[in-house]
Amino acid sequence: WGMYEFSKPILVVKDPDMLKTILVKECFTHFTNRRFQNVGLNGDFYDAVHFAEDDDWRRIRNNVSPFFTTGRIRQWFGLMKRQSSRLTSRLQPRAQNEDVVSVKDFFGPYSINTFTGCLLGVEVDSQLFLKRASNPFKVSIPLFILQACFPVLLPLLKMLGFSVFSGDSFKFVKKVVEKMRADRDGSSHQELDFLQHMTSTQMKAKKDTGNKGIPGLTDHEIVTQMTVLLAGGHEAVTLVLTLCAYSLATHPQSLRLLQQEVDSTFPDQAAVTLEALLQMEYLDGVVSECLRLYPSNPRLERTAKSTVKISGITIPKDMTVMVPVYALHRDPEHWPQPEEFQPDR
Ligand code: HEM
Repeated sequence: WGMYEFSKPILVVKDPDMLKTILVKECFTHFTNRRFQNVGLNGDFYDAVHFAEDDDWRRIRNNVSPFFTTGRIRQWFGLMKRQSSRLTSRLQPRAQNEDVVSVKDFFGPYSINTFTGCLLGVEVDSQLFLKRASNPFKVSIPLFILQACFPVLLPLLKMLGFSVFSGDSFKFVKKVVEKMRADRDGSSHQELDFLQHMTSTQMKAKKDTGNKGIPGLTDHEIVTQMTVLLAGGHEAVTLVLTLCAYSLATHPQSLRLLQQEVDSTFPDQAAVTLEALLQMEYLDGVVSECLRLYPSNPRLERTAKSTVKISGITIPKDMTVMVPVYALHRDPEHWPQPEEFQPDR
C-alpha cells in the first residue's frame, strides 16, 4: 500500500517475494541506498555506512565487514565473559535484597564496556562514554519536521551547516582516536582493535594503488565508522538485553526452561564456552522472539535508484520503499498468536 509522509509519497511493501527482490536480489542494482541520505543534513555522519551511497557505501562496507571475523569474535570471548561476570556480580546483591532496579542502567555500562574493549582494545570509563558517545542518532525533531514540511529549504539548511544529528559523539570519538594514534606513535599494536585494522587497511590500500585515490577509508570515515559502530552496536545490544530481561521476568515458565537449558549445558557450573553457547536452542529462541516482538528498527527503508518493475508493480525512480518490520513481525499470517512470547515457535 502507499501513504504520504508530509509531502513525500511512500510505497509500503509486505509481500515476502517483493521484499526478497528489493532487499537482496536488487539491493546492489536498484535499492542500494537508504532514505536518510537524501535528507542531506547528516552533519559529521554524512559518511557513516548507514548513510553512504552507491560505491561509497560498498567501499566503506567492504572495509568494515572483514573486521568482524569468527577468529576475532573468539578472541573477544574472554573479554565478553569478564564483562558478563562483572555484570552478574553487580546485579547479584541487588537481586538478593529484592531491590527494584532499572536493568537498562546495568546493561548500558556492560555493553559499552564490552564494545570499547572489543573495538578499541582499551579499558575506558564507561560513564564518560555513555554520556558523550552513546547516542549519535538523537535527531533534532524541529529541524526534522522543518525539512520534511519544506524540502525546498534543504539546500539553504545544508549550506548553513544545520544537521539533524548532534556532532558531540563524533568529536568525542575523534579526540579518543587522536590520543590513541599519538600514544601509539606509529608502533604496531594488536590487530584486534578496529583503529589498528582500519589504519593497516588504509595504508595497504594506498600502497596497492600507488597513492592514486584511496579505496581504503579516509581518517574522517574511520572516526565516523568507529562512532556509529560503538554507539549503534551498544544501543541495539542494550535494548535487546533489556527486553529479554523484561520478557523472561514476565514469563516465568520461559525463564524456568532457559534455566534448565543453562544447567544442562554447563553442569556443575562448568566454564562457559562459545561452542556450547551456540548450541543453546532455547536461548536462541528467547533472543529471536524478543527481536520479533520488539524490533530495534520498526521500519526499514530503501530508495529506488531508477524506475523498476517488481512483481508487476512499477516503482518509480526516487520512490521511498518502506518495509513495515513491526507489522510484519506481528502478522498472524506468518506468526500464529503473534502477540504471545513463545521462544519455542
Ligand atoms: C541485537 C543487536 C542488533 C540489531 C537488532 C541490529 C539491527 C540492525 C538493523 C535493523 C539494521 C538496518 C538494516 C537495513 O537497513 O537493512 C542494522 C544496520 C547496521 N548495524 Fe546493526 N543491529 C544490532 C547490532 C549491531 C552491532 C553489534 C553492530 C556493530 C558492532 C551493528 C552494526 C550495524 C551496521 C554497520 C549497520 C549498517 C550496515 C550497512 O549499511 O551495510 N549492529 N542493524
